[in-house]
Amino acid sequence: MKILYALRRFVPVFTLGLALASCSKEPAAPAGAPQLVVGFSQIGAESEWRARETESIQKEAAKRGIELKFADAQGRQENQIKALKSFVAQGVDAILLAPQTKLGWDNALLEVQRAGIPVVLVDRGIETKDESLYATLIASDFVEEGRVIGRWLAEKTGGTCNVVELAGTVGSDPAIERAKGFAEAIAAFPGIRVLKSQPAEFTRAKGKEVMEAFLKAEGDAIQAVYAHNDDMALGALQALEEAGKKPGVDVLVLGIDAAKPAFTELVAGKLNALVECSPLLGPLAFDAVEKVLRGESVPKRTLVPDRLFDASNAAEELSKREY
Ligand code: AHR
Repeated sequence: MKILYALRRFVPVFTLGLALASCSKEPAAPAGAPQLVVGFSQIGAESEWRARETESIQKEAAKRGIELKFADAQGRQENQIKALKSFVAQGVDAILLAPQTKLGWDNALLEVQRAGIPVVLVDRGIETKDESLYATLIASDFVEEGRVIGRWLAEKTGGTCNVVELAGTVGSDPAIERAKGFAEAIAAFPGIRVLKSQPAEFTRAKGKEVMEAFLKAEGDAIQAVYAHNDDMALGALQALEEAGKKPGVDVLVLGIDAAKPAFTELVAGKLNALVECSPLLGPLAFDAVEKVLRGESVPKRTLVPDRLFDASNAAEELSKREY
C-alpha cells in the first residue's frame, strides 16, 4: 500500500528530524535521507490572494526540505484533475489540493485514494458523497466572511442601501458561501436592496468590466459594492473613478481578502471595509501532511481565523500586514 510506503519513507526522516531539532533551526531532511514528495494542485493565479497562497506553500515546502511538485491549473478544473492523475503516476507521498469548484472531484479523488495517497484540501472545500476521500480541509469560514460584510453594511447605512454584488467564480466554495453569508446578514434589513449580482471570476479585469455594466444599468442608484474578493473590489474602484465617482465616498466599496494592494486603498479611504482571508496556509498545510503521514489523527476541518478592517483600525495594521 502506498500509505505504508509513505510511512516507511517518512517516519525515519521525521524522527531523526525531531532529534536534530534542538541543534538546528532548519527542520530540513538530513543528508542522504529520502525526501518527502508532495504534489500541489493550484487553481491558477487569478488574484493577489492566490499568488500569496502559492508563495506560502512553496516557501514552507523549501523550509521543511520537502520536494514540491507544483501544478498550475490556469483556472480549469480539468487541468487540476489531470494534475491529480499525474501525481499518482509519479508516486508522490501526499497531495495538496486547492479545488476550483465544489463539485466534480469524487472520481479523481477515488483514484488517488486507491493509490494510498492522502489528500489535504487547502483554501476551498468540496461537496462529496464520501468524506473519506480527503484527510482534512484547511480554510477560512467563507459564510462568516459574507455575514461580517453584510452586518457592517447594515450598521453603517442604518439598514438602507442599494448594493451591487461582484461574485466569485461560479460553483466555487467562496463564491457560494460568501453570497450566502451576506444574504443571511442583510435578510433582516428590507431597506438593503441587492440591485444586481453577477460573477466576475475573482479578477480585477472582470471586476472592472462587470462594474462598468452595473453603472450603465443602475447609475447613481448604486450606493455600495460588495465584492467577493479584493481584486474585484479594486476593479470596481477603477470603474467608479473612470465614471467620475469617488469610491469610498460616493459609493461604499467592500471586499474580502485584505491583501496589501487593497489594504493600501482601504487606508487611503477608497475602500471602506475588508474582511481578512489569510492565504498563508503553508505551515498549516504541511503540519497536516506530516501528521497524516505519521498516522496521527487530524480534525476534518481547521478554521483559519479572519478579522474585519475598516477606517477604525486599518492604518495601524498596514505596516504589520504579512501579505
Ligand atoms: O478561495 C479563496 C479566494 O480565491 C480568495 O478570496 C480569492 O481572492 C481567490 O481567488
